[in-house]
Amino acid sequence: MTDGSFVGTPAMPPRTHVPRPAADESRDAAMLPFERPATTAPAASAAPAQPAIGPTGRAMPEFPDPRPVVAGRPARVVSMCNQKGGVGKTTTTINLGASLAEQGRRVLLVDFDPQGSLSVGLGLNPHEMELTIYNLLMQRDVTLDEVVVPSGVAGMDLLPSNIDLSAAEVQLVHEVAREQTLQRVLAPAIEHYDVILIDCQPSLGLLTVNALTASDGVIVPLECEYFALRGVALLKTTIDKVRERLNPKLEIDGVLGTMFDGRTLHSREVMERLVQAWGDTVFHTVIRRTVKFSDATVAGEPITEYASTSAGADSYRQLAREVLARWPGE
Ligand SMILES: Nc1ncnc2c1ncn2[C@@H]1O[C@H](COP(=O)(O)OP(=O)(O)OP(=O)(O)O)[C@@H](O)[C@H]1O
Ligand SMILES: [Mg+2]
Repeated sequence: MTDGSFVGTPAMPPRTHVPRPAADESRDAAMLPFERPATTAPAASAAPAQPAIGPTGRAMPEFPDPRPVVAGRPARVVSMCNQKGGVGKTTTTINLGASLAEQGRRVLLVDFDPQGSLSVGLGLNPHEMELTIYNLLMQRDVTLDEVVVPSGVAGMDLLPSNIDLSAAEVQLVHEVAREQTLQRVLAPAIEHYDVILIDCQPSLGLLTVNALTASDGVIVPLECEYFALRGVALLKTTIDKVRERLNPKLEIDGVLGTMFDGRTLHSREVMERLVQAWGDTVFHTVIRRTVKFSDATVAGEPITEYASTSAGADSYRQLAREVLARWPGE
């Protein structure tokens, strides 16, 4: 699928409907039976309307409009984590962050991957960065304020990264409390932001353990593809170990199906298996496959800005509402 027609989640309730460009209009027509509303002839009976079945095969709830931000509350820190590469961690960090910023949350994105994709995806040049998260981790005289840069999205800042961070993984091994290094350097940001999203690299090494140790929650983006299910058990074991040994408050906020293509039996079977294995931990929101995400990356913008009315942007806005409904105290 390359034209964006099948991006996003099933039809939203009228109250929250955002008009989409013509290219997306064929989307609803192409919905599969299990994605269409369960009732087809509401006028024929007086029975109450049943909720629509969502792309995960479960009834799609209505997510409440987020409440206003509670002043003075510490930030919730959340890692995007999956050791498999190319599953949508960075795309989710950028677009969930931008959607939360649209909801009035002050957001800090942390690029914690030496590939620096998050920084590049927000338009930064990796060769022109004076200070990166590497300096913050390894040099005690560098402060958070010196490294944070604006992301180009109102209400959202970025701690950038580049290939220098790969050296930190080796150097941190010799540090005291090496797993708590990121937590220590992020501490001053907790009171300045409502949400801190950490984009992890595709590995379960020391950098990822640092991210999990610094986090309240984990979001696991998972490509709706068969091999994506392999390795999830290892990821869960790692999360459990970090919770037991380093960070008792760590929760799995949710598993997010990405690159979903509802026309293929394959995608739907993978989704079914995901729900069997993870139950309600799986977000009702899924992110469909569309080239618009790659186009947005090239433009150095979140999809919520690059193609604001696209179904892909809608999906991440819906994810923001679903995530906020899950977070305690929101
Ligand atoms: N829903 C989607 N539909 C189509 N393409 C997507 C989607 N989400 C992400 N992509 C594209 O897939 C590629 C990988 O996505 P992304 O960089 O977000 O994954 P990642 O898990 O962060 O990868 P890595 O493990 O290398 O850090 C990118 O080119 C991105 O534009
Ligand atoms: Mg990435």
